[in-house]
Amino acid sequence: MSGDVAIVARGLTKRYASGGASITVLDAVDFNARRGEITLVMGPSGSGKSTLVAVLSGLLRPDSGTVNALGTDLWQQR
Ligand SMILES: Nc1ncnc2c1ncn2[C@@H]1O[C@H](COP(=O)(O)OP(=O)(O)O)[C@@H](O)[C@H]1O
Ligand SMILES: [Mg+2]
Repeated sequence: MSGDVAIVARGLTKRYASGGASITVLDAVDFNARRGEITLVMGPSGSGKSTLVAVLSGLLRPDSGTVNALGTDLWQQR
């Protein structure tokens, strides 16, 4: 089973409202994580790593896009 896709995300977008302005943190992000592999999320501070992981793990609803984890659609949206 090693190598099977465990998490598939497509077209993730996430914006935060910030003092009347809107900041786009995730802009049409696609992501795969495979069973049996270690996946690292790397980038500068503020680049959106925590936001991405929160969306992938079901803690934060994206503005659009899909996350399927182990066969379950976490957000039930298209
Ligand atoms: N709850 C929030 N409300 C408004 N802006 C946020 C919030 N969380 C994160 N941000 C902003 O989104 C951007 C990405 O943050 P984050 O995902 O924490 O990045 P990283 O984990 O890579 O440092 C930053 O500009 C941060 O200030
Ligand atoms: Mg972080």
